[in-house]
Amino acid sequence: MKDIILKTNTVNSIIHCGKGAFDKYAPGLSGGQLFLVTDTNVYAHYSDLIARTFGDIPKFVLPAGEKSKTYKNLIKILEAMLASGMRRNCRVIAMGGGVVGDIAGLAASLYMRGVHLVQIPTTLLAQVDSSVGGKTAVDHKGVKNVIGAFYQPEEVIADPLFFSTLPKRELRCGLGEIIKYGALDENIYNCLLENSDCLYFEKFLEGIVAMCIEHKVKVVKLDERDSGGIRKSLNLGHTTGHALELYYGRKSHGEYVLIGMYYELQIARKRGICGGQYAENLEKLIKKVIKVPSYENIAEAALNAVHDKKNVDENISIVVPGKEGEFAEIKLAVNEYAQLLYEEAKRIK
Ligand code: NAD
Ligand code: GLY
Repeated sequence: MKDIILKTNTVNSIIHCGKGAFDKYAPGLSGGQLFLVTDTNVYAHYSDLIARTFGDIPKFVLPAGEKSKTYKNLIKILEAMLASGMRRNCRVIAMGGGVVGDIAGLAASLYMRGVHLVQIPTTLLAQVDSSVGGKTAVDHKGVKNVIGAFYQPEEVIADPLFFSTLPKRELRCGLGEIIKYGALDENIYNCLLENSDCLYFEKFLEGIVAMCIEHKVKVVKLDERDSGGIRKSLNLGHTTGHALELYYGRKSHGEYVLIGMYYELQIARKRGICGGQYAENLEKLIKKVIKVPSYENIAEAALNAVHDKKNVDENISIVVPGKEGEFAEIKLAVNEYAQLLYEEAKRIK
């Protein structure tokens, strides 16, 4: 078990990660008003654990899935908090994957102008990424995360205990984000290569989760508000991933990130930014986790990338792997970007 501290001028959060973290730290959250936000899948698996740990606390159980990340549900959560008499010193516990974490975090930021927030991420993706760093949001009018705020949790409890009930598909999504870190951090990359045959093992996951959180904490300390600095590196693969997710929407966020990473890696190769054995290894890692599809309408789907928050002008901005442990940002005219994706989709058909 490990404690990682995220301290900036405005934040002081502690991330407890590793086996046993939940049993050790969750009971200490009781005392004071608690409000739990979770989803139907997590509640189905863990209602006994929740009752044993927190007692009969007020809660809002969202229908599982990305479609729940709406402002309508946000308002429902706020109304439920009000109806249960939550006061300014209450604590919101977001126990679930990234969907729960994002919407509950936003609710915590809004309720009475901000109440305490604890993230208990139960997916691999949420442990390595969404529960750390304070991005909260809901989707609106087909645009992902367009209504949101930066709001840091005071505590994060990331315990591999929750992986035992996680479908393999969800583990895959988390591995997508982990490979993203591998493209940004040499130690994580080497660890992935050394363990490429045991990516789904709990022992491996426990160790790599801590490494990814440490990487993210380093990045967030340098560019907490994602204001044009290093934090944009964490969006590697996401521009294309989000564009495909918006257009097709059949797979989950993490799967589209993996696919987006694949396509963006090929753009980086074509531009001579990333190459050789390193590019091959990254591609192999991606393909170990997902079968990359060739999309007939990828050029049309690419137009969705104009909504990406990294774009500050008409160009599409993508973050791609560079040399080992480095990244680069490429700006492309929309047509050029669409053409590059189309060519790659055709090549792998
Ligand atoms: P998710 O929250 O939808 O969870 C995936 C599925 O796993 C859901 O069906 C959920 O009910 C189920 N689940 C969760 N924990 C479980 C468990 N322990 N056992 C069994 N089932 C479980 O999705 P996710 O992949 O965790 O997160 C994706 C979301 O996170 C997206 O909305 C994305 O935009 C957001 N995100 C946010 C950030 C950020 O920095 N805030 C970063 C990355 C992703
Ligand atoms: N997931 C990207 C970020 O936190 O900035």
